[in-house]
Amino acid sequence: MKVIKKLLQYSNMEYFKSRQAKLRTGEIIDYNYFLQNSKEEFTKSFRKKVLCDYKLDDFELLKSLGSGSFGHVVLVHLIKKDSYHAMKILRKIQIKKTKQIDHTLNEKQILEAIKFPFIVYLQCSFKDNSNIYFVMPFITGGEMFTHLRQIGKFSETLSRFYASQVILALEYLHYLDLIYRDLKPENILIDHQGNLKITDLGFCKYVPGRTWTMCGTPDYIAPEIILSKGYGKSVDWWSFGVLVYEMTAGYPPFYANDPMQMFEKIVSGKYSNPVFFSNEVKDLIRNLLQVDLTRRYGNLKNGINDIKSHKWFKNCDWLAIVNLKTVSPYIPQISGITDISHFEGARDIDKTLLKISSVDLYPDDFDEF
Ligand SMILES: Nc1ncnc2c1ncn2[C@@H]1O[C@H](COP(=O)(O)OP(=O)(O)O)[C@@H](O)[C@H]1O
Ligand SMILES: [Mg+2]
Repeated sequence: MKVIKKLLQYSNMEYFKSRQAKLRTGEIIDYNYFLQNSKEEFTKSFRKKVLCDYKLDDFELLKSLGSGSFGHVVLVHLIKKDSYHAMKILRKIQIKKTKQIDHTLNEKQILEAIKFPFIVYLQCSFKDNSNIYFVMPFITGGEMFTHLRQIGKFSETLSRFYASQVILALEYLHYLDLIYRDLKPENILIDHQGNLKITDLGFCKYVPGRTWTMCGTPDYIAPEIILSKGYGKSVDWWSFGVLVYEMTAGYPPFYANDPMQMFEKIVSGKYSNPVFFSNEVKDLIRNLLQVDLTRRYGNLKNGINDIKSHKWFKNCDWLAIVNLKTVSPYIPQISGITDISHFEGARDIDKTLLKISSVDLYPDDFDEF
């Protein structure tokens, strides 16, 4: 008893109380512990089928928000709960025709098992005879792409703010042995508070070692993918370099009218910096856009620390960022939870999406969904 009394006397009660309070609110106080814990959680839930009772009739389909290469994303109203969501609708026929079954299954299984402030997640998923459905939170601020095109280019302060959230998201994914492989402003959404949510995990893959699949978007693709070399997580750091360049300049570093010419430029690693780039951002980009993997930041012996401790990020408080304690320099104007004004491509729903086949299409191929 005496010992305990003494211990209490000497321990810092203020620190103890504030630590307990942080633990109660779920605040991250030890980042390495958080990453280790995230990995355990991910390993437990990855590839475990999650049951979901919803069907298409439970939702009112309001507007089509955007369609990428494989899916349509629709703003929906879940009638029972009176809540609004983004629903990605993937046509089985289209997935089968374009040989994307594995990619789509990866996307579903990963989205179901991850949890991170700057990445979207799956609230539920179901299928019917014709389609696969992913239900996610609706991120009202729209794509970073739209804001970048409207504003022209971001200030270095805003670029840095976004870059810091992307770094943490990539660090989280890589810690779980996931490579993202499709980083670009179209796949980065901005929420109502101005924070980022990375979406579209269609090319995201669990790769503890190397992989060889050719995928990505031409402007953002890493040289080692173009050269058909086996590659790993470093491809995301290349794309991150392209992203920092594009956010800060307003256009991407390797540009050409046809993809072959663009690939040649990427493989050569030659680009030029606009005059208004600070020396710090130039230095960071130079270390990321390294064709030579033994020189690319993120891929060296210090891993992500070379990036996090780079002078462009010298005032970044990484714990404050992950705990959402930093205020975004740019808050999109949003009038309510169903405001779609930031989605330039929003239009009426394509009625063919609602035509459901009377027979189950490719049941064996989609058995695991
Ligand atoms: N959770 C979401 N909230 C709001 N809009 C979204 C959401 N997810 C996707 N979108 C919109 O839909 C577009 C296409 O979705 P995405 O998952 O990127 O599909 P694809 O694989 O076809 O590129 C995105 O670029 C974005 O504009
Ligand atoms: Mg996309």
